[in-house]
Amino acid sequence: MKADVLLGLQWGDEGKGKIVDVLTPEYDIVARFQGGPNAGHTLEFNDIKHVLHTIPSGIFRPGQLNIIGNGVVIDPVVFKKEVEAITALDVVLKNNLLISKKAHLILPSHRILDAASEAAKGQTKIGSTLKGIGPTYMDKTGRNGLRVGDIATRDFTEKYRFLKEKHKELLKLYDYPYNIEEQEDAWFEGIEEIRKFEFIDSEIFINEQLSKGKKVLAEGAQGTMLDIDFGSYPYVTSSSTICAGACTGLGLAPSRIGEVLGVFKAYCTRVGSGPFPTEQDNDTGSTLRKIGHEFGATTGRPRRCGWLDLVALKYSIMINGVTQLYMTKADVLSDFDTIKVAVKYKVKEGETALFPHDLNDILEPVYVEKKGWKCDVSKVTNASAMPGELADYIAFIEKETGIPVTIVSLGPDRNQILFRKR
Ligand code: GDP
Ligand code: IMO
Ligand code: MG
Repeated sequence: MKADVLLGLQWGDEGKGKIVDVLTPEYDIVARFQGGPNAGHTLEFNDIKHVLHTIPSGIFRPGQLNIIGNGVVIDPVVFKKEVEAITALDVVLKNNLLISKKAHLILPSHRILDAASEAAKGQTKIGSTLKGIGPTYMDKTGRNGLRVGDIATRDFTEKYRFLKEKHKELLKLYDYPYNIEEQEDAWFEGIEEIRKFEFIDSEIFINEQLSKGKKVLAEGAQGTMLDIDFGSYPYVTSSSTICAGACTGLGLAPSRIGEVLGVFKAYCTRVGSGPFPTEQDNDTGSTLRKIGHEFGATTGRPRRCGWLDLVALKYSIMINGVTQLYMTKADVLSDFDTIKVAVKYKVKEGETALFPHDLNDILEPVYVEKKGWKCDVSKVTNASAMPGELADYIAFIEKETGIPVTIVSLGPDRNQILFRKR
């Protein structure tokens, strides 16, 4: 068997969590491959709304196994809170969740370094979620990091103290007040929580399961526009959010990747700093934010909103080798008479349909206008009941990208889903 990879094609928050939850019954294993508590994946079912940060979005389906892969970074404090919140909903986690020994740990001092670095940047800050993501991946690539497997070693506390002292030296670079010690009790309590779970060599386990014919869904966090290499650098996250990230973040060979399922919103959002070509910093943007409840699932920050950007979407499709598109939140566009879609960018030299190295080179997007459907589509669950204008909108995207839109999500609930041409 090959593993399917589901990932975001924009700046995150495309609705990945919801779609993973919908698809989980078709799989045996759901595995997160990168990112950490910067992610906020929202699931809604039976009037419950739940936000996951580290734990894969398959966790609410009994019988499926969930794995936190080696590419993920775990904050024990956030992890413990997540476990408690899920357990409170009567979900038994113990046998459904396995953790890679190679996943890295976020220390309190990583969080502080993140905050100190952002404060020092002032106007040019990344707009990080302040979860310690950047500093933890820096320690991973710098070969200083602490991993889940270290928890089981006798000198774990010593390793922790060694890294903490190193961070204290780094913090001298900043004029930033901090107190690591007051966060340590909660951190070590989180470590005890992690200890209750089975640590595995997830790369071996997943490859064995695939060989046995089990179906694996790899769940991405963030989105392609936030990728460390191909996103709007430096306003990106610190991991590989693209399909290749599933290879390194789970130990999957490229030949073991099956379908690449790209999730995108019918419009665009971004939270944090950085260029956003189709941003509507006006009434249109406010309307999208209000109707789409566009506030960060992790930080509560208002999300910047704008029109769908096909130049960026096509770039993401290329980078990931997307085989199926999943479109979410088209219901949010129901009030608009006209919906705009960017198909090119105006730059100094003229017009381009290619994604530029520096998004600041874009003078303005070139839009085409599509007619809105002007009706409630939140209860539509089959393609024949779809208003013609929505079908046209989808057909236009399929024609432009050359990739079929096989799932359309028309509301936050698990049941608000429409399958096409599968
Ligand atoms: P993720 O990070 O990609 O999992 O996405 P988030 O959970 O951060 O943000 C998506 C938001 O949109 C959440 O509040 C979801 O409940 C909600 N959502 C997902 N799909 C739809 C949809 O089709 N329509 C509407 N209206 N909301 C949706
Ligand atoms: P999900 O998985 C949206 C953004 C932050 C910031 C930048 C770097 O829910 O789609 P970081 O904390 O990673 O150093 O922040 O990336 N960001 C996200 N935006 N959704 C996310 O995750 C994000 N994770 C990080 O806002 O601009
Ligand atoms: Mg999110």
